[in-house]
Amino acid sequence: MKISIFDNKEKGSKNLALLFVNKIQEVLSKKSICTISLATGSSPITFYKELIKIFKSKKVDFDNIIIFNLDEFLDIEPNSINSYNYYMHKHLLNHIRIKEKNINLLSGNRKNITEYCKSIETKIKKYGGIDIQILGIGRNGHIGFNEPGSKKSSLTRSVNISHDSISILAKDFKNSNNVPKKAITLGIKTILSAKKIYLMAWGLNKSIIIKEAIEGNIDKSCPASFLQLHNDAEFFIDKNASSKLSIKSKS
Ligand code: F6R
Repeated sequence: MKISIFDNKEKGSKNLALLFVNKIQEVLSKKSICTISLATGSSPITFYKELIKIFKSKKVDFDNIIIFNLDEFLDIEPNSINSYNYYMHKHLLNHIRIKEKNINLLSGNRKNITEYCKSIETKIKKYGGIDIQILGIGRNGHIGFNEPGSKKSSLTRSVNISHDSISILAKDFKNSNNVPKKAITLGIKTILSAKKIYLMAWGLNKSIIIKEAIEGNIDKSCPASFLQLHNDAEFFIDKNASSKLSIKSKS
């Protein structure tokens, strides 16, 4: 895995946004569409701001970009301020020009969730797979909502949100009792089949899990450790998040 370490998240996010746009252009030089899958949470917010700046300076258009996202709470309305649908619109989609038909955000309020999850896998395949996957990482090592215990072979499915994650999410829902207990998430296998993966992590509170994900055993107790098996996964982290790594690399 390639690890790039930056002084702070602002520098890391700016750098990642530029590389991401270059990667999109590289993909689009070889085929007619580029399929990207995006993360929510606090980590990518600065990255999305940088992307919007690049979009507004007309260095990129999203005409041939197909968007998926990683996860969504179950039994949440898309327009709820806590939904990841709302988040994606607020932080990115409302600020760029993109065709509605190219947006495939996960929906948390479908009747037949099993069938719906299968249909997401089919749709991703129909577009030729994910070209670029953006990830954050939970303090317990989750990627998407693939919580510890998730199998390497897992596909898009409904999952229980762990107690750890519920306690961290409580701040967004005012109280942990209000946090949904279930979500749907792209699976580990779905994520690993992306051709390029960028993961970002900022701050000291990610340092222990970053060490485990990069230098620890590849094991379902830390789902992000499965990224060690990918041949083109890149970590964008700041000095604080890198502080427990024994191998240091420079940006
Ligand atoms: C959200 C997602 C999660 C977050 C993770 C880190 O779409 O995929 O796995 O990336 O929970 O969240 P933050 O960035 O808020 O620390």
